[in-house]
Amino acid sequence: MLVSAKEMLQKAHEGHYAVGAFNINNLEWTKSILAAAQEAKSPVILGVSEGAGKYQCGYKTIVAMVKEIHDYMGITVPVALHLDHGSFDGAKACIEAGFTSVMFDGSHYDFEENVAKSKEILEFAHSRGISVECEVGGIGGEEDGVTSMGEVASPEECGQIAALGVDFLAAGIGNIHGKYPANWAGLNFEVLGKIQEATNGLPLVLHGGSGIPADQIAKAIDLGVSKINVNTELQLVFAAATRKYIEEGKDLQGKGYDPRKLLAPGAKAIQEKVVAMMNQFGSAGKAE
Ligand code: 13P
Repeated sequence: MLVSAKEMLQKAHEGHYAVGAFNINNLEWTKSILAAAQEAKSPVILGVSEGAGKYQCGYKTIVAMVKEIHDYMGITVPVALHLDHGSFDGAKACIEAGFTSVMFDGSHYDFEENVAKSKEILEFAHSRGISVECEVGGIGGEEDGVTSMGEVASPEECGQIAALGVDFLAAGIGNIHGKYPANWAGLNFEVLGKIQEATNGLPLVLHGGSGIPADQIAKAIDLGVSKINVNTELQLVFAAATRKYIEEGKDLQGKGYDPRKLLAPGAKAIQEKVVAMMNQFGSAGKAE
């Protein structure tokens, strides 16, 4: 059975570790991440962006696929199926389709509208036992014309959104999606500390979890981050392993072109990377 992410993140917060939220793109991703979670005895969150939702033929298809793969593989660790960066309509659609957790990302609205829409999603989700992540953006991070530092949230706004009853909160602290540029300023721990204070110990979410140095990840967890989102890192290891297989001409040897063989190195690379990250985030062994 898939579960809400609320309890696993509260436990993570209390235990000073973080649960990885790994984005899924297809069946291979789903299998590899679930296998990794079972291997590492770790709770896990499967993230689905709206784009990946369309790619995988809709939310209902994903719910059915994840549930069936989960049962077929005999997964016993806690697994949540979570909408990543959901729109208002997307969050409602996922709740109706059977997701166990949703993110409503209203950070691009003005703050009052973000509050109003977050409130509505919270009522809709909580009446069905589904956990909700909201996001606060705010101050645009720009320095010397460099706009890729990411956004830095206002702790006060974070406090107001948290007070609505949000289960976990994504707040910009200089983190960005995709690869970090060489001149990236790093995470803003001063703001992170203030956000944790303003939100009374609510589990916080670190987006853009690929490519952040290990010491910064550890410090973020210390300061209240309990969920770390990872997407790019898995895409990179999958692509590298697949490239190696083809460049070594293995697809041309015997039946090396069989998709089950062609995609196997990439799937294995994802599993290994997820296990490594679960160890790094401290969630390994927490689902024993
Ligand atoms: P990365 O692109 O750093 O993996 O971030 C993923 C993410 O935050 C998804 O919401």
